[in-house]
Amino acid sequence: MCGIVGYIGPRDAYPIVIEGLKRLEYRGYDSAGIALYDGTDLKVAKTKGKVSELEKCVENEITKTGNLGIGHTRWATHGVPNDVNSHPHVSNSGDLVIIHNGIIENYESLKKELINRGYTFKSDTDTEVLINLIEEVKKKEKVKLGKAVQIALNQVVGAYAIAVFDKNKPEEVVVARLGSPLAVGIGEDEFFIASDASPFIEYTKNAIYLEDEEMAIIRFHKKIKVRKIKNDAEVPANIQELQLNLEQIEKGGYEHFMLKEIHEQPKAIVDTYRGRLLRDEAIIKMAGIEDNMKKFLNANRIIIVACGTSWHAGLVAEYIFEDLARIPVEVEYASEFRYRNPVITENDVLIAISQSGETADTLAAIKMAKSKGAFVFGVCNVVGSSIARESDAGAYTHAGPEIGVASTKAFTTQITVLSLIALRLARAKGTISSSDFRRYLLEMEMIPNKIEKALESDAHIRVVSDIYKDASNFLYLGRGYNFPVALEGALKLKEISYIHAEGYPAAEMKHGPIALIDENMPIVVIATRAEHYDKVVSNIQEIKSRKGKIIGVITEGDTIVRELADHVIEVPDTIEALSPLLTTIPLQLLSYHIAVMLNKNVDQPRNLAKSVTVE
Ligand code: G6P
Repeated sequence: MCGIVGYIGPRDAYPIVIEGLKRLEYRGYDSAGIALYDGTDLKVAKTKGKVSELEKCVENEITKTGNLGIGHTRWATHGVPNDVNSHPHVSNSGDLVIIHNGIIENYESLKKELINRGYTFKSDTDTEVLINLIEEVKKKEKVKLGKAVQIALNQVVGAYAIAVFDKNKPEEVVVARLGSPLAVGIGEDEFFIASDASPFIEYTKNAIYLEDEEMAIIRFHKKIKVRKIKNDAEVPANIQELQLNLEQIEKGGYEHFMLKEIHEQPKAIVDTYRGRLLRDEAIIKMAGIEDNMKKFLNANRIIIVACGTSWHAGLVAEYIFEDLARIPVEVEYASEFRYRNPVITENDVLIAISQSGETADTLAAIKMAKSKGAFVFGVCNVVGSSIARESDAGAYTHAGPEIGVASTKAFTTQITVLSLIALRLARAKGTISSSDFRRYLLEMEMIPNKIEKALESDAHIRVVSDIYKDASNFLYLGRGYNFPVALEGALKLKEISYIHAEGYPAAEMKHGPIALIDENMPIVVIATRAEHYDKVVSNIQEIKSRKGKIIGVITEGDTIVRELADHVIEVPDTIEALSPLLTTIPLQLLSYHIAVMLNKNVDQPRNLAKSVTVE
């Protein structure tokens, strides 16, 4: 939610901040703004809409000069997305300026106090309250900006990543974080500030990721100072080397990031199992599991918490963990779990799944589980993210940066990691025979090629998309391992094409959704060869007799469903437990093509954000 960028150094800040905002637009794109110190004064431009709108606005309103700048791309929380509510926000004196990602929960009481002291507010935002609180502290306590920020943040309840500067001291920027990510890129006598490292990777490979409750005072020509917000104590700056490169965050010839990321899945899955799946030795090696094997083997149960697409990966994992490793699993929405006073014991293992590693509800859920003694294992994509750091142990998915808001390769790599874990545990517990184990390893290694094969249906899927793009509703049905895939397929369509879609277990159709079926209803049925194949075929018959339009996702060569369905999309055969890795692919492409045909913004669908750092 919200992206923040900043620059201080010898270069022009404007292009760095604008390009950085474009890279962070996946975090929110309701409105955008920039503040520059042009050598004599503070210049602010902000507008509702995307960064491209901001560029036009800057052309008309301010000069682009200056070596100090901060910018913001917003996902609205307090106050509708309009020009006034856009960041940056300036204090009443006009001296201080701030960008903020997060929520100040006690902003109303703080605002009242400030109004009593004569402050006025232009916007409805919590952020404008914060900058004026900082100003009030600075004046009242007669302290420097860094100290004022520190004192003010101690009065604040909520989450934030902020960058603040004072136009009268344009050689200094103060940043702080609690609950929202913030990285500082360290160049030669220059500094970059951003919600993630993507805005500055072409300038420096060295960065500090601030920890929660840390702030930093960044001064041009000086060293960065990191401090604890609570007590102002200095902490050593932990400079890390970035693994990211520019190519990974560019579209590489594809029309959209989503399409690029769909096509990257074969490689992403190889990257995920590389070094972990050692087929010749017939072993799976994952440090986070080996080091904590006892915890897993003695676990009463595994609780999986996640949100959105990651939650669907958790559901797939439930099937495979129970099926192969015979460990009871519960899958919970992080947002429900954290607020429902669950029974958690020291013998529980909690697996948190998160692409971004920053989802506020998932983070809060693991903190809660940890406080009750559970062992927390993180499955994250973003290295060094909050959830990865908060977990006791974990395994990265290694999918590479995922920029399209609708998650694709993150999902399949999450399933890959979770399948490897389930297989490793099954081997350790002896719930899988060595021949079956070998068969799984071999099959897992073949999945990337089979995904390539599934991607070959792209042109055919486009034809099917064209036929159904104007439907108002879609149903997605699947059984067993492919029930979560049905949920995920429906979610993809909703997210990017704004067509209402529901995922259902195929047999549950009879208990409600069947009433919706008529000749206008497209129904995507995942009907690959599996244990309950015959039952799915019966479900298809039921749909057919009610004139529903059937789009079957079938195993290559299958003739039964081919005869019954209006359209079929083939995927290669595989072991049932690994089939979600293949059946997901045509559903991603179907939603992608429909959204493109409907002229929707595929990579940045309305109202959504890639990283949901508010609850
Ligand atoms: C948002 C994104 C989804 C994602 C979900 C969970 O809703 O738009 O694509 O699945 O958050 O995010 P996480 O980063 O925790 O996997």
